Amino acid sequence: MKKVLVTGGSGLVGSHLIPLLRSKGYQVVLLSRKERKREGITTAKWDIDSGYIDEEALEGLYAIIHLAGAGIADERWTDARKKVIIDSRVKSAKLLHRALESRSDKPEVFISASGINYYGTKTTEKVYAETDPPSADFIGRCCVEWEAAADLFSPGSRVVKLRTGVVLSGAGGALEKIAKPVKMGFGAPLGSGKQYMPYIHISDLCEMYLHALEKNTVRGAYNAVNGDHQTNKSLTKAIAGALKKPLWLPNVPGFAMKLVFGELASILLGGSRASADKIQETGFTFKFDNLKAALADIYR
Ligand SMILES: NC(=O)c1ccc[n+]([C@@H]2O[C@H](COP(=O)([O-])OP(=O)(O)OC[C@H]3O[C@@H](n4cnc5c(N)ncnc54)[C@H](OP(=O)(O)O)[C@@H]3O)[C@@H](O)[C@H]2O)c1
Repeated sequence: MKKVLVTGGSGLVGSHLIPLLRSKGYQVVLLSRKERKREGITTAKWDIDSGYIDEEALEGLYAIIHLAGAGIADERWTDARKKVIIDSRVKSAKLLHRALESRSDKPEVFISASGINYYGTKTTEKVYAETDPPSADFIGRCCVEWEAAADLFSPGSRVVKLRTGVVLSGAGGALEKIAKPVKMGFGAPLGSGKQYMPYIHISDLCEMYLHALEKNTVRGAYNAVNGDHQTNKSLTKAIAGALKKPLWLPNVPGFAMKLVFGELASILLGGSRASADKIQETGFTFKFDNLKAALADIYR
C-alpha cells in the first residue's frame, strides 16, 4: 500500500480527497494541528510554530499532499492575519522539508495546493495560463511563496502545484457563503458583478489530485479550474436558479464591500479568466465542465 500524508486533510478538500484516496488503495495519514480521530486512517500531529512534527508519520511516504492553510477569506487581512495566511502554507511546507532532509525514504511526489489568485485580482478579458507571471499584490505574493516552498522538494520529489479556483461543494466553502443570502432572498452580485470567478467542482479537484499523484509526467504548476468562464453575476444567478430563488436586489456596491472587508475585498471584487488547457493536455478530463451540471450535482 502506498502511504500518502495529507496536511490540512481535515478541511473541505481533504474530507473529499481522503475517502477517494482510500478507495483507490492508498494508506492515508492525516497531519493536523489537533488530535483527530478518523475511522480507518492514521492521524498525526504537527505544530508549525514550535517546529514539532510526528516523525513516525513521515516513515516510508510515497507522497505528500499539502492542503494546510489558514482560510484566505475568513478574516480581514490585517498584518497579523497575512502572516498567519502565509506561515500556515509556507512555514509548514518548510517544516516538512526540514524534517525529511536527513531521511533516505523521501516521498516520490509532493503536491501542493496553490491559488488561482496567483495571477492577481484584476478584472480583464485575458485568459491566464500557467506561463503568465504572478501579480505583485498580497495574494499573488502569497501564492509565489507557497509554490516556492513546494519547489524545495524538487528535484528529490516530483512537485505539482494546483492553482485552485473557487471550489464548489455541497459541504461548505465558498458556495455555502454565496448561497446563504440567496437562500434568504437577499442574494445579489458583488461590485460590478463582471469579475470572473474561475471555479471547479470538488469531485473534479479531487480527481485532479489523484491524477497528479498517479501520472508521473504531471509536474509543475497547473490551473485547477474547469475553464468554464463565469462572472460573479452569472454564477450568483445560476446558484439562485438552481435554488429556485429570485435575484432582485441591485449589486452590492464595491465601496461597501471594501468598508466591510478591507483589502480582502479585492478577491471578491476582481478576477480574470483562467485556462484549463494545460491539465487537459496531460489527459485529465472534467466530469463537471459547466455550471449547470456542477450545481445540479451539488443540489440534487
Ligand atoms: N476551497 C477553496 O475554494 C480553495 C480555493 C483555492 C485554494 N484552496 C486551497 O486549498 C487548500 C485546501 O482547501 P480547503 O478548502 O480544504 O481548506 P480548509 O477547509 O480551510 O482546510 C484547510 C486545513 O488547513 C489547516 N489549517 C487551518 N489553519 C491553519 C493554520 N493556521 N496553520 C496550519 N494549518 C491550518 C486545518 O487543518 P487542521 O485543523 O487539521 O490542522 C484546515 O482543516 C487550502 O490551502 C486552500 O487555501 C482552496
